[in-house]
Amino acid sequence: MVEQLLFKLCVVNSNLTQCTKPFLIKRRFLFCFFFFAPYNKDMHFHIITIFPNLFDSYISDSIIKRAQDSGVIQFSFYNPRDVTKNKHKKVDDIPYGGGPGMVMMAEPIIDIWEKIIKDRNDSVLDKISFVLKTGHLKKKRKFKTILLSPGGEKFTTEYAKTTVTEYTDTIFICGRYEGIDSRVQQITNAELVSIGDYVLTGGELAAMVMVDSISRQIDGVLGNKGSLEEERVSSHEMYTRPAELKYRGKTYSVPEVLVNGNHAKIDEWRKNH
Ligand code: 6GU
Repeated sequence: MVEQLLFKLCVVNSNLTQCTKPFLIKRRFLFCFFFFAPYNKDMHFHIITIFPNLFDSYISDSIIKRAQDSGVIQFSFYNPRDVTKNKHKKVDDIPYGGGPGMVMMAEPIIDIWEKIIKDRNDSVLDKISFVLKTGHLKKKRKFKTILLSPGGEKFTTEYAKTTVTEYTDTIFICGRYEGIDSRVQQITNAELVSIGDYVLTGGELAAMVMVDSISRQIDGVLGNKGSLEEERVSSHEMYTRPAELKYRGKTYSVPEVLVNGNHAKIDEWRKNH
């Protein structure tokens, strides 16, 4: 809220500078605001996966697309197949000790992870583009590494909120096959995270779920903060036009209280539905 107010002031000041008197003082005022404007929340998602295409349609549509265009979220994809040193671009091998299936090899994933962390400093161009798009300075990068695993800690809205407030970059390591060589977790110190009590074929869907949930916690991603479902958990029942819906001879009506426009009564109703 305070951030938004200061940002608005900043914009108002930039308009002020267009009038001339006393030009210098106003310009200095703008300068101060620009450099002391609080950082906006933003998130760079780094996704390590051998199936980057799975993300295409999801990230190129709707709210997630808009958030990328406005500069508050960013995606980078890294394919372990692109960095394997062996001739056949093999990324998996049989498990030590025997057992079914294949295990993803540690080295390609660790090489990628290390490079992401090493390249953590934004280029000057990145910084300028961010300021121009959002009106805020970029935060110092802070990385969180998540290894998607059905046996991991349960992902929650609380987890999403903490990720946004404490980190600027989230690295998702998506496993396929029977899992990932455990030394990846030891070396990267990744948090093992699961989205629920069922097993998926790979971590990609789980990563998408988390990206969605984390993104909606970032300022400016949802047009209206009030649309956060978390803010209106008390009311799950909702309706839109028509007020009377006819289906197989029966009429289904919108509750009268919602149609009448008495907001005190509507609030009261929503608390109980
Ligand atoms: Cl994070 N990965 C996989 N493979 N399955 C899951 C999951 C993750 N969360 C729930 N099921």
